[in-house]
Amino acid sequence: MSATILPLTQLPAWQALEAHYQKIKNVHLRQFFADDPQRGTRFTIEDVGFYFDYSKNRITEETIRLLLGLADESGLRERIDAMFSGKKINTTENRAVLHVALRAPRDQSIIVDGANVVPRVHEVLDRMATFADRVRSGQWLGHTGKRIRNIINIGIGGSDLGPVMTYEALRHYSQRDMTFRFISNVDGTDFVEATHDLNAEETLFIVASKTFTTLETMTNARTARQWTLQTLGEEQAVARHFVAVSTNGEEVAKFGIDIANMFGFWDWVGGRYSMDSAIGLSTMLAIGPENFRSMLAGFRGMDEHFRTAPFARNLPVLMGLLSVWYSNFFESQTVAILPYDQYLKRFPAYLQQLAMESNGKHVTLDGKRVDYQTGPIFWGEPGTNGQHSFYQLIHQGTRLIPCDFIGFCQTANPLGSHHDILMANLFAQTEALAFGKTADEVRSEATLEKLVAHRVFEGNRPTNTILAEQLTPETLGRLVALYEHSVFTQGAIWQIDSFDQWGVELGKVLAMKILPELNQVEEPELLHDSSTNTLIRHYKSFKLHQT
Ligand code: F6P
Repeated sequence: MSATILPLTQLPAWQALEAHYQKIKNVHLRQFFADDPQRGTRFTIEDVGFYFDYSKNRITEETIRLLLGLADESGLRERIDAMFSGKKINTTENRAVLHVALRAPRDQSIIVDGANVVPRVHEVLDRMATFADRVRSGQWLGHTGKRIRNIINIGIGGSDLGPVMTYEALRHYSQRDMTFRFISNVDGTDFVEATHDLNAEETLFIVASKTFTTLETMTNARTARQWTLQTLGEEQAVARHFVAVSTNGEEVAKFGIDIANMFGFWDWVGGRYSMDSAIGLSTMLAIGPENFRSMLAGFRGMDEHFRTAPFARNLPVLMGLLSVWYSNFFESQTVAILPYDQYLKRFPAYLQQLAMESNGKHVTLDGKRVDYQTGPIFWGEPGTNGQHSFYQLIHQGTRLIPCDFIGFCQTANPLGSHHDILMANLFAQTEALAFGKTADEVRSEATLEKLVAHRVFEGNRPTNTILAEQLTPETLGRLVALYEHSVFTQGAIWQIDSFDQWGVELGKVLAMKILPELNQVEEPELLHDSSTNTLIRHYKSFKLHQT
């Protein structure tokens, strides 16, 4: 952050937004739409394959003008340029933030520490493609000469959520005679359930870990090796059944995986921004190199849009600014992600890490405690399932929950009227949330007076609607990049480091201290607080009853 930028709440645009908020906070979306018959087309953008409707937000043109002013005063343009040019904007880890280089074309040059990183990216992509083709075509055989039929990705956080979300999202494009599974949790159940019906002779594990030291992943990887060797006996089998994806060649070699079977990436790729790096190896195995490259083209299209489109027409910038508007002025605590596509069932979970590990920060880049809210809580489920569970609270609860509705005009699985029913529900929900139902409207339906209050929908619940033609690899790339850059925009406004994750450290350290205390037969001296000490004792005494 440039030293010339004032603390956020002292910026003139912030103060103007506070005053503006007081003026419009009680205006109803019904009023906004009544005042401007063009609103439903005015607040829309059609670009990079998306139709983005943000008209059902509690905003006026003045709100947008002020939010754009806030972006300018926050130095968003400079931050974007700094990221794209490889500056070390992750200051607490002294690292560049270059997931955009993962999808850069071969002839582009992005310099980090004096070297162009783009040729290295393409070298790895080419190796991944050769490997994926060999496995998919049956050329790469297991130790006993059998074809590989099952791929299991072992990883956690960014080394799991991206791969599993993408596999589910693009399952339609996947090689259907192969099985893809994902093991992340250190809970042995995850391993057992993922492997119980598989033949080790036909199974290939991808151990995916940026650091190759993560406790959960290394525990699962060791168990996978035992499981494989139980059937295959000889140690040489590991070379045919294990590959690694990591930045840490030394640890990969120590684990016993041949470096020739390692696919690398770099410290300038954050875990939660790595699904299009070698971490996407399982994705490439599932959908093939060509579809993977289409996905990268989608990412690249959104990167270019983010880098070059004027902020007033820039999808990630507008989405990010709207999120700031609700988080900081309306004090909303959460954002609901509601994809109307079954293939996107893991998308909200993926966005949880992307958004919350990035922007869950309580100090600014220069280490000062913020005096405003930062990252909201992301959550959600695919429509229409959510409608029959938590939408009640969004419609009639006391909290303001901005929602992103994501839908597609065409489906990969046309089946009678299913898709029209699905999309009718999406449109209906945004309409109901915005406009609600007044007491008079409820009464006009001959409702008993004592029920009127219960059946009123206040409305005025804000939504974005993101429509695309079809969920393809390219669309998915664009969609993920849209959220990556929206998260970036928010972090830039909040003046925080969106690319570190110190908040995950303390729990990891304490777990390593507690682990030996759980194993000791005699009572160890427990020096935790009285609650933790008692929980440990309780666990140990009941653990003895395990049959
Ligand atoms: O614990 C958080 C974290 O560091 C994430 O940021 C990361 O995606 C995940 O752990 C997995 O890390 P690794 O890829 O190094 O195993």
